[in-house]
Amino acid sequence: MKHTISIIYGSVRTERQGIVAAKYLEKKVKERGLKTYLIDPLEYNLPFLDKMYKEYEKGEAPAQMEQLATIFNQTDGFLIVSGEYNHSIPPALKNILDHFQSEYLFKPSAIACYSAGIFGGVRAAVHLRAILGELGMPSISSMLPFITIGELFNDDLVPKNDIVEKSTARFLDEFVWYVEALKNQREKVVPF
Ligand SMILES: Cc1cc2nc3c(=O)[nH]c(=O)nc-3n(C[C@H](O)[C@H](O)[C@H](O)COP(=O)(O)O)c2cc1C
Repeated sequence: MKHTISIIYGSVRTERQGIVAAKYLEKKVKERGLKTYLIDPLEYNLPFLDKMYKEYEKGEAPAQMEQLATIFNQTDGFLIVSGEYNHSIPPALKNILDHFQSEYLFKPSAIACYSAGIFGGVRAAVHLRAILGELGMPSISSMLPFITIGELFNDDLVPKNDIVEKSTARFLDEFVWYVEALKNQREKVVPF
């Protein structure tokens, strides 16, 4: 496996719809031969932020936080899959992101967004872009919006709209280029 990608999904709602977008992207990234982790906040179940990972003494962070830190340290690029809640990102997504810091540095991110309607979550994506820059994992230029998320995929994760496959391929081409470029540079030097 050449590079490692973490796909971070942000909804914990019982009737969540966006998990199909996260699983579709997991499939597409795996098809490229990359090692992939799908980070589902329901599975890791972090508490609302009390201490960031770095604030724990070594070995004292909760097990699921330790597990995420290990994954994030190995990660070369973060693919964030965000729904749109009141024009911003879901709280569980922000909660995961806020728990970590140094694990993200000098690695690229890419934003896939979705909504029930025709705007595809782009207003949340614009907020997210500012957050990812602050976290030290600046996002690539392209965004990947999925519109009408509840009806976009069939049961085998095949999109019903042809544009999705094409725009996903272009988006991942760009992302993987940055993943590789920044990894090469990290192996030579990091500024701090
Ligand atoms: C709290 C809340 C706020 C929402 N706000 C928006 C919004 O601002 N714009 C929008 O297009 N959809 C909005 N929606 C609809 C979501 O796009 C839709 O419910 C989507 O499936 C949410 O993602 P999830 O199912 O993965 O949690 C909102 C949904 C929730 C639960």
